[in-house]
Amino acid sequence: MAVGAAAVTLLIIGHPHPHPHPQAQENRATPDAAKLAAIGSGLATGNAAAPPPSPPADWTVLNVDTLRDDDWGRTVRYGRDLITKTYALIGPEVPEASHRYSGNNLACESCHLEAGNRKFGLPFQGVYADFPNYRARSGAVGTIEGRINACMTRSMNGRALPLDSPQMTAIVAYLKFLSTGRPVGAPTPGRGPGRMAEMTRAADPVRGKTIYAQTCAACHGENGQGQRTGRVGDAGGYSVPPLWGDDSFNNGAGMDRLISAAKFIHNNMPVGTTWQQPVLSVEDSWDIAAFVLSQPRPHKAHLDRDFPVRTEKPADAAYGPYLDGFSREQHKLGPFLPIEEKLAALKAANRDHTPGGN
Ligand code: HEC
Ligand code: HEC
Repeated sequence: MAVGAAAVTLLIIGHPHPHPHPQAQENRATPDAAKLAAIGSGLATGNAAAPPPSPPADWTVLNVDTLRDDDWGRTVRYGRDLITKTYALIGPEVPEASHRYSGNNLACESCHLEAGNRKFGLPFQGVYADFPNYRARSGAVGTIEGRINACMTRSMNGRALPLDSPQMTAIVAYLKFLSTGRPVGAPTPGRGPGRMAEMTRAADPVRGKTIYAQTCAACHGENGQGQRTGRVGDAGGYSVPPLWGDDSFNNGAGMDRLISAAKFIHNNMPVGTTWQQPVLSVEDSWDIAAFVLSQPRPHKAHLDRDFPVRTEKPADAAYGPYLDGFSREQHKLGPFLPIEEKLAALKAANRDHTPGGN
């Protein structure tokens, strides 16, 4: 009971930043006490009892509501809304058929936490200042619009936003706003899903299933279906997003790679955890990610065209073709270090033919 109560406190007050959009806050998961107690008992770790740390000094959250009510301010705020209420504006259930760009009812914010303002919660801060850049997935220099559309067609399992659409303009404007003060080309520490040591053993989805049931199912559901805010068809989205099934990200998404998913889960889940004090151990994050990613999800066509420079294909891309001779199973579950070593050796041998960039 005591452990349960401590974990509940962490889950509720663990968010280091005020949520920038109260309207979406209302839709947030408010699991009942019994559910939280159940989660708490699954989180019987020393970490769970410690007070949450204060916000990192090197991280500022910019507030779009301070912008004037002019064309720029309205565009940036529309961009923020497209990130937080994607399902209601460009989701598959919106009344206007031509606006149905996403194929699922997620929000960008389902993964880019706190409207893209959360350190190590796949934040958008500094992203605008980093594009265009070399993209290994396409083997070419790509734009920020191209990167947004990669998430539209993979994470959102939908279609690309037209480059001159008001929606694309607004998302880019919002990303620019979130890069205010960030020098072009300078790194932004805190981007991405955060750090986590890679395990030297293969991930174990069977072990992950048990921990999922104890730690995640109360919110995300036994069958990974999440919790809708309203009814199917009302474009109301989810208070807790689904993690697999028809309404989830597809198998070409960045979240469908084990290392990325494990890092995201370790540093951000269950909601309320922080990267400074992760609730889950590295091992548990690794195995839960393997369980989640072994469940069915939509398929993207032509994934064989990804990473045309095969030595740049990440070890944890779970789809072929591969250059390195390791099995599909090992690309899915690891261990990845032997694959990474082999790829590095192949790359060194091919150096003259490999394009530069990050
Ligand atoms: C299912 C989870 C998920 C959803 C939903 C999602 N993304 Fe992403 N997104 C990712 C992951 C994972 C990455 C890769 C981050 C990395 O490279 O470290 C990413 C990367 C990005 C980047 C580049 C970030 C960087 O640091 O370089 C942009 C921009 C982006 N997404 C925009 C969007 C937009 C806009 C939406 C909604 C239309 C969206 N994403 C929805 C998971 C998601
Ligand atoms: C207290 C409720 C809660 C618990 C417990 C919880 N999550 Fe989440 N999770 C959320 C919410 C809410 C979001 C969406 C974030 C947002 O909208 O701000 C989310 C987002 C995610 C995402 C990214 C979105 C997507 O569709 O893929 C993943 C992956 C995820 N959770 C995995 C897990 C795993 C694994 C566990 C167990 C270790 C877990 N979560 C426990 C509430 C929860």
